[in-house]
Amino acid sequence: MPNSKARPKPARHAKPAAKATKRDLLTITQLTGDRLRALIASASAIKARPEEFATRLRGKGVVLLFEKPSLRTRVSFEVGVSKLGGHAIFYDHSADRIGMREGLQDYARVLGRYVDAIVARVYEQSVLEGLAKFSPVPIINALSNTHHPCQALADVFTIHEKLGTVKGVRVAFLGDGNNVCTSLAHAVCMLGGEMQVISPPGYALPEVVLQECRALAKGSGGSITTTSDPDAVAGAQVVYTDAWVSMHNTDAEERYRVLRPYQVNAKLMARAARGAIFMHCLPAERGDEVTDAVMDGARSAVYDQAENRLHTQNALMLELMGRSSDER
Ligand code: CP
Ligand code: NVA
Repeated sequence: MPNSKARPKPARHAKPAAKATKRDLLTITQLTGDRLRALIASASAIKARPEEFATRLRGKGVVLLFEKPSLRTRVSFEVGVSKLGGHAIFYDHSADRIGMREGLQDYARVLGRYVDAIVARVYEQSVLEGLAKFSPVPIINALSNTHHPCQALADVFTIHEKLGTVKGVRVAFLGDGNNVCTSLAHAVCMLGGEMQVISPPGYALPEVVLQECRALAKGSGGSITTTSDPDAVAGAQVVYTDAWVSMHNTDAEERYRVLRPYQVNAKLMARAARGAIFMHCLPAERGDEVTDAVMDGARSAVYDQAENRLHTQNALMLELMGRSSDER
């Protein structure tokens, strides 16, 4: 007979502990120069020999939570996970924004029981920070109002691919000092490039971002300068622009008016260094921030840049999910 006084065994709670090494990518500043260079090297290997990486995410799941529209980011992550042997699920959060139906702590902990990484495109950076705080699995920023680190990974990879290095390369960004500009400036400064932001008054990079860039540049031998004069593009080896109206902006009319002198056209490209490449994160508003002639011209790197989202994000997922090139 069982002893009725015997204490029942405490229930086993199968709570998976968060990996001590759990890392996120919410901003480029969370990386180091060494990690960024390793990601570029890993992306090169993945791009050159994709078959070697075909099972690295076998049995792994990744969820994509998107509050905003996307072509490149969504498709490159979904296809990218599948090319690594894993499974991606897309969750459309455009109607019920993340945190509306339940608190971030429950949301993030529950997702952590199902998937091995969370990729999120959001309005507020604070939502990503909340997810990262509570999630046992890596959070990857797929764009917020203020940062776009996955874009910057592809951008510096593309510069490296086209010009052989980022160190010492002069990169001019024209237009709105926005999320794309912020992450690009962080990455270029981290790798020792010369970042130049050319924007009208009121559209410069936030002061806090400039301070971060100066600190990064100090450690790498790079630099950051700002001006409102489009002629300052002289000597730039990379000319970069982005849409004047981002997905979260509500003052479109004013932006089209103020940013008009910053259009990248053939005349402006002629002032840049000989052989300078043109870059754009896309989607582009042809005829506004860039002309057809530049987008479709011989110096345009935009489609290689878009393709490189795939390879650099795969390198990132392997690094954050512990399946990088030195592990099988
Ligand atoms: N560049 C970029 O993030 O494109 P999507 O908005 O289409 O994802
Ligand atoms: N700055 C743009 C980038 C789109 C990829 C936006 O936030 O809408």
